[in-house]
Amino acid sequence: MKNRITELFGIEYPVIQGGMVWCSGWRLAAAVSEAGGLGLLGAGSMHPETLLEHIRKMKEATRKPWGINLPLMYPEIDTLIDMIIAEGVKIVFTSAGSPKKYTARFNAAGIKVAHVVSSSKFAAKCEEAGVDAVVAEGFEAGGHNGREETTTMVLIPQVRRATTLPLIAAGGIASGEAMLAAEALGAEGVQCGTVFAMSRESSAADAFKDRCASLQEGDTMLCLKKLAPTRMIKNPLYDEIKTAEDNGADAEALRGILGKAASKRGIFEGDLDRGELEIGQVASAVKEIQTAAQIVERMMGEYADARKRILG
Ligand SMILES: Cc1cc2nc3c(=O)[nH]c(=O)nc-3n(C[C@H](O)[C@H](O)[C@H](O)COP(=O)(O)O)c2cc1C
Repeated sequence: MKNRITELFGIEYPVIQGGMVWCSGWRLAAAVSEAGGLGLLGAGSMHPETLLEHIRKMKEATRKPWGINLPLMYPEIDTLIDMIIAEGVKIVFTSAGSPKKYTARFNAAGIKVAHVVSSSKFAAKCEEAGVDAVVAEGFEAGGHNGREETTTMVLIPQVRRATTLPLIAAGGIASGEAMLAAEALGAEGVQCGTVFAMSRESSAADAFKDRCASLQEGDTMLCLKKLAPTRMIKNPLYDEIKTAEDNGADAEALRGILGKAASKRGIFEGDLDRGELEIGQVASAVKEIQTAAQIVERMMGEYADARKRILG
């Protein structure tokens, strides 16, 4: 497959494994890149020294293109950017913040930048900021989410009209059929989080992955809009948050209920009752824990079959 996304990043398939707190260390990212997609280290849950260790391991694990997801609200952002540039990283996916401030610095260092948005308004801003590609992420997605609750199906065609930049669709994509649908809507690549969070190489706890594989439709919900809108599995922690939100709890009260390191507790340590279990709606369609290579191969096979079935 060749299109603007495969050309921009030098990859075989336009399948990007989204950066994910507590899931996407070097093992997962390297496995996805080795399989022909683009693996991203998730800097969001790493201290600078941990990220450095993962960058070094990544360089040993693969010669194929890979990148880093960098949430821009990160407290030690300047330290991380200096390190990323010094280590010669070639691709950065920024999220959770404005790309205006940092893109020029990355571009000057020869780093390709993609930025994650949840609306066409922000997509247009990416173009002004000089980013190389846009990831448009819909309401179905796992993890932190847009406030406006725009679904992938509604978002992608409008972002397509708002910008001429290469476009990657995210949110609810875990199959080749969904990849083809995203292409029909105007995307040139897909970013998948949920399906890779549940893969063998993901650093999430097995208990978390097994819980994800048992989910039915409707088992995840968006909450915490007063903090950062987050999609998570309904569990006792979610129930407590929901009751508090229904009773008008403010950001401070919600922070108190979450406690410290709630996503680490849930995703990495596997505390299914008191942890924040971030995952997307599409988990209910993923029933097997596969390797990253099996996921990429399966998706590309489904994509080819669906294309043939529809286009002849
Ligand atoms: C467990 C989890 C953690 C995530 N952490 C991050 C993150 O740190 N930074 C980010 O930009 N996106 C994060 N995401 C979003 C993914 O990168 C990706 O865009 C999203 O999962 C795509 O939608 P999907 O979950 O339906 O596949 C996370 C998603 C999940 C499931």
